[in-house]
Amino acid sequence: MDISIYPLPADKMKQKISDESQLGFGKHFTDRMLVVEWKPEAGWHNGRIEPYAPFSLDPSCMVLHYSQEIFEGLKAYKWADGRVALFRPEMNARRFNQSADRICMPELPEEIFLKGIEQLVSLEKDWVPSAPGTSLYIRPAMIAVEAGLGVKPSSHYYFFVILSPVGAYYSGGFKPTGIMVEDKYVRAVPGGTGEAKTGGNYASSIKAALEAKQKGYDQVLWLDGCHKRYVEEVGSMNMFFVYGSKIVTAELNGSILSGITRDTVCTIAPTLGCDVEERQIDIEELMADIRSGKVTEAFGSGTAAVITPVGKLCYRNEVVEFGNGEVGEVTQKLYDTLTGIQTGKIRDEFGWIRFVS
Ligand code: COI
Repeated sequence: MDISIYPLPADKMKQKISDESQLGFGKHFTDRMLVVEWKPEAGWHNGRIEPYAPFSLDPSCMVLHYSQEIFEGLKAYKWADGRVALFRPEMNARRFNQSADRICMPELPEEIFLKGIEQLVSLEKDWVPSAPGTSLYIRPAMIAVEAGLGVKPSSHYYFFVILSPVGAYYSGGFKPTGIMVEDKYVRAVPGGTGEAKTGGNYASSIKAALEAKQKGYDQVLWLDGCHKRYVEEVGSMNMFFVYGSKIVTAELNGSILSGITRDTVCTIAPTLGCDVEERQIDIEELMADIRSGKVTEAFGSGTAAVITPVGKLCYRNEVVEFGNGEVGEVTQKLYDTLTGIQTGKIRDEFGWIRFVS
C-alpha cells in the first residue's frame, strides 16, 4: 500500500519551539500526520500524510462511546551527526497488533506501521529536537469511527500517527519522584485489558492519580486487582526495585503492560553487572525489604518516562525513602546506558536502532 503525500500549505506550517528546555511532554505537535483507513471490503487503504488537523467524526462514532481505541508510544532521536534514529520500533508494531487483537480491531501489517512512521518522521525531521533529554515522541493510534451506538466491532477504523517534540515526562525532569501505592482503586484484573495499550486503562487511572497528587505524589503504583497484594505497574511505567546488584521487577502476568523499555532494561542490566529477577512482588515483603535497607533504589521505566528515579513510596500512610533525594547509582548507570544507545553515544550491540532516511 502506497502512502500519498499531500501538500503542506504555508499557512499550516507551525513555528518550531526555539527553547527546547521548555518543551514539556505532548504539548506541541508537528505540521503533518499519517492517516490510514480500514474497511472490511477494502482492508487498509487511503494511506496519506496530510497537514496536522482535527478529524471530523460523527458524534455517534464508536470510539467516542465505547472506547474502541489502542495506541503506542515510541521516540525518534537526533544524533550528533544529524541522523535520526528510531528505537526498537518493530516491538511497538508487534505490541500494537496484540492490543488490536484484545480490543477486536483489525491487524495492521507491521510494514504499514513501520514504513508509515519512517516516512512521516523523515518529512518532519526538522522537528526532532537535539537538546539533552529531548526527542520526538511518536504516537500511533487506532480508533473506531463507524457511526452507531450498537456495542460491536466497528466496520471503519483510522490508524493515525502524530508527532510531538518532547522533553521529560515528569515536570521535575530526571529527579526522584514520589509514588503512592494504590490500595483503594484497581487498574486491571486477570482476563481484563491490563496488558493492552488501550485508552480505557488510562481513563480509569485518572481518579487515583488525582487523589495521589492531592497528597503530594506524582503517580500511583497499582497492586493486582484480585488481592491488592502484588505490585503491578505505574500506568506510565513499569517498576524496578534495586536489591544491591540485582534488579527486581514484576513478572508479566497478563494484566501488566509488557513495556519495551522494561525489556530493554532487563537486557542491558546484565551487561552492567546487574542480575535481573522477574517475579511476583508482595507489597508487604517489599516494604519490609525497603525498611531493612535491602532495597537500595527504585525506578520506573517507560518510553515517555525513560528511566525515572523514585525517591519515596507511600503505602497505607507509611512513607519510605530512597537515597536522600539523590539519584541512585544503578538507576543512573541504566539511564546513561539506555539514553546513550538511543542517542548514539554508546554503540548499539543489540541491533535496536533503525535510522530514518
Ligand atoms: C509511553 O510511555 O509512551 C506511554 O504511552 C505512557 C503514556 C502515559 C505517556
